[in-house]
Amino acid sequence: MYENIKNVLKKHRQSHLLAFWDQLDAPQRQRLLAQIRRLDLAKIDCWVADYVKKPASEAISSDILPAPFYSLGPSDNKQKRKYTEAVKLGKDLIRKGKVAAFVVAGGQGTRLGFDGPKGDFPISPVKNKTLFQIFAEYIAAASRKYNTVCPWYIMTSPLNRARTEEIFRSNNYYALDEKNVFIFQQGTMPNFSSDGRILLADKANLSCSPDGHGGSLKALYQSGAIEDMKRRGVEFISYFQVDNPLINIFDPLFIGLHALDNAEMSSRAVIKTGPFEKVGNFCLVDGRLTIIEYSDLPDELAEKRSPDGSLTFKLGSIAIHIINRAFAERLNADGFSLPLHRALKKIPHVDERGEPLEPAEPNGVKLESFVFDAVPLASKSIILETLRPEEFAPTKNATGVDSVGTTRKMMVARAASWLESAGLTVPKKPDGSIDCLIEIAPGFALCKEDIKEKLNQIPQINPGDKIYLA
Ligand code: UTP
Repeated sequence: MYENIKNVLKKHRQSHLLAFWDQLDAPQRQRLLAQIRRLDLAKIDCWVADYVKKPASEAISSDILPAPFYSLGPSDNKQKRKYTEAVKLGKDLIRKGKVAAFVVAGGQGTRLGFDGPKGDFPISPVKNKTLFQIFAEYIAAASRKYNTVCPWYIMTSPLNRARTEEIFRSNNYYALDEKNVFIFQQGTMPNFSSDGRILLADKANLSCSPDGHGGSLKALYQSGAIEDMKRRGVEFISYFQVDNPLINIFDPLFIGLHALDNAEMSSRAVIKTGPFEKVGNFCLVDGRLTIIEYSDLPDELAEKRSPDGSLTFKLGSIAIHIINRAFAERLNADGFSLPLHRALKKIPHVDERGEPLEPAEPNGVKLESFVFDAVPLASKSIILETLRPEEFAPTKNATGVDSVGTTRKMMVARAASWLESAGLTVPKKPDGSIDCLIEIAPGFALCKEDIKEKLNQIPQINPGDKIYLA
């Protein structure tokens, strides 16, 4: 067995993986051989040639048009009727238990620099609730509102699954029924040096990273989550990221429009803040709806303007999707694969002498797939615009842009705007900024319309107050 693997590794120029064999004990040797046997070395040769050794520049078609989309509100009477019908259908589908929540929480959250799964990060502005708790409360409140059971699927990675499960157990599943919470893990990919050698985390283990949020489509299937959904009668998967506490997980309009149009995978979009905002661009490429990364959209297209002065390619992706369960099943049955994306990262590993290295600068290549690359595989896909302050506050960094501070500020701003839309007054400073902290628990209101029914429970808010509505 050892000799055989040694020869195979030699053929694929990965012999260094056995460099410390003589120093390993029997269980370590077994584990290392098992990890090596799981590698598809022929595929890895292709990835090294196509992605690792050269920065992959996607060949972009010349047939790129802006994508059609549903705007925030209907554009005419016919569409008004459609939106009304969609909201009704969406509510009906939620009520019938046909929609599941699905959060991807397998990322490493390196930019945030938090020790532990990102979902355990305390984010809410008054009560300091964690991201997981906010989602759990949302799901519980929606289940009550629609008198149904909304199951919750949580994708972790081999690196954070055990800790995530422990967090859920020690928080008593945030008062959800444990049997409606399905935690599973995604796959991993080996990490590479820039010359294509697989890195060793230590003398006995390969260095691996989660295979990207695109890995969710395979992991849903391989973990049995899809089977579980089938058993429950779930048809639609509401996909969101763990770092966005403003997510409106069950939006009847979005779900309804997706279902009415017989779409297989749909997306929410925001209007970009500028031509080069770092979000994916919704485009029609050779007639198919596709999301092109900001770094891949040619500058002249990014800057192109319509006659009214707005950006021609104005729709940015915010990683919110509805995915049909049957679509995920079909992809897996067809043995699909998504393209890989290369990222230069700081990857701790051991060097040729077995000495641990903690790089200060990016030193290796991670390969990941992205979930939005499945959009062009859908037979039909719709886009619904949303307002950024209503639904998108990503907590990526500890400070600065898309950080803990900006997210908390946006949580307060949305709460304030919901209260104001119900006719209440929120104290402001002379510069117009909000002069208090407000947190609205999902159990109090899931959307601004819910506030109107609770007006008598809301106290007067004075400058500097900290208000928690639950
Ligand atoms: P990000 O692109 O923000 O990556 O993930 P990240 O790993 O969390 O953070 P950085 O880049 O290391 O700072 C967007 C969403 O996709 C999930 C994340 O958990 C987050 O919800 N994700 C990402 C996965 O579930 N698996 C992955 O392999 C990558």
